[in-house]
Amino acid sequence: MATDTLDVPATTEFVVERHPAPVDSAKRAELISNPGFGRVFTDHMAIIRYTEGQGWHDAKVTARAPIPLDPAAAVLHYAQEIFEGMKAYRLEDGGMALFRPDMNAKRFRDSARRLAMPEIPQDLFIDSVRKLVAIDRDWFPSVEGGSLYLRPFMFASEVFLGVKPSSEYLYIVIASAVGGYFKGGAPAVSLWVSQDYTRAAPGGTGDAKCGGNYAASLAAQAQAISMGFDQVVFLDAAERRWVEELGGMNLFFVFDDGSLLTPPLGGTILPGITRDSLLTLAREEGLSVREERYGIDQWEADAKSGRLVETFACGTAAVVTPVGKVTNPSGSFTIGSGGPGQLTQRLKQRLVDIQRGVAADPHDWVMRLG
Ligand code: PLP
Ligand code: COI
Repeated sequence: MATDTLDVPATTEFVVERHPAPVDSAKRAELISNPGFGRVFTDHMAIIRYTEGQGWHDAKVTARAPIPLDPAAAVLHYAQEIFEGMKAYRLEDGGMALFRPDMNAKRFRDSARRLAMPEIPQDLFIDSVRKLVAIDRDWFPSVEGGSLYLRPFMFASEVFLGVKPSSEYLYIVIASAVGGYFKGGAPAVSLWVSQDYTRAAPGGTGDAKCGGNYAASLAAQAQAISMGFDQVVFLDAAERRWVEELGGMNLFFVFDDGSLLTPPLGGTILPGITRDSLLTLAREEGLSVREERYGIDQWEADAKSGRLVETFACGTAAVVTPVGKVTNPSGSFTIGSGGPGQLTQRLKQRLVDIQRGVAADPHDWVMRLG
């Protein structure tokens, strides 16, 4: 492979090995014209190794390829794995940017600590992402609302069957050209409230972004899909009463007095970066915003009385997605008109305008690349 450097400021030396046979431009143009979510991957990946006693080493950007793994690698048995989800956006002026990558770096460190894994320094995390975007810059989708979805992840690679934190890890970043998360750009999603399964318990890993949380949510999600719903609402594990979040998104509720409510962080909910950004934007607009518990019965009663007028889900992949209908084992209720609400649309537009460099960025959330 040819070795060269990239024109991105570096804090750590990455060896760059360009793909010897990247996807040709005609094929790439076809792939990025309608990528969907999470199926179209770029040519390269960033990879860094960690060894106890040595620290982080052998950073490189190289051709995206399968990773050889010993069948006794700890991750395959005890699921010591964490990940992040972030996007690189094309700006209106043609540039490229990341959105609040420092928050992803911090959450990755927090997740690492919870899973007894080494913490990757923020500069190294952000640098790995920047270098991957730089080398795969031709992969931005040509569809409206498209972006490069970046997936940094780390897993235990020590070959050992004893139960203990691994002494070796692989950190990798891959990139995927993406459009909308929901098929057909769903105007509003339908939710199934799971009574059979919970996602996270106090003292558990609910606020860490670890693969195990998602594995635990799949049976509930499969149940919802088999009944024709889009996503699962998880309730708290102790009382099965308080609305927590969806399998991959946080929730917001909008009331007829224009106020907003979102469930509080407290160990069982993922601290979403989109959630935090929307809280900031809403408070700046002078809206009343509460981070308070909200019961499933109250949600239903408020939707039926008209006090609750909108509900939306938010996350990096889903951006801001209106909720149209909610179903409990005991029955269904519709949110507002069942379609996108006004405040939902306005907040989404404000967020997307900042991410795309259309609106001013008073909080310095946008990190321009190259
Ligand atoms: N909740 C869960 C369980 C998630 O997987 C995600 C997605 O990352 C979110 C919430 C939203 O987080 P963010 O806005 O940082 O993408
Ligand atoms: C994200 O929004 O980045 C996530 O990780 C959620 C997942 C459902 C794709």
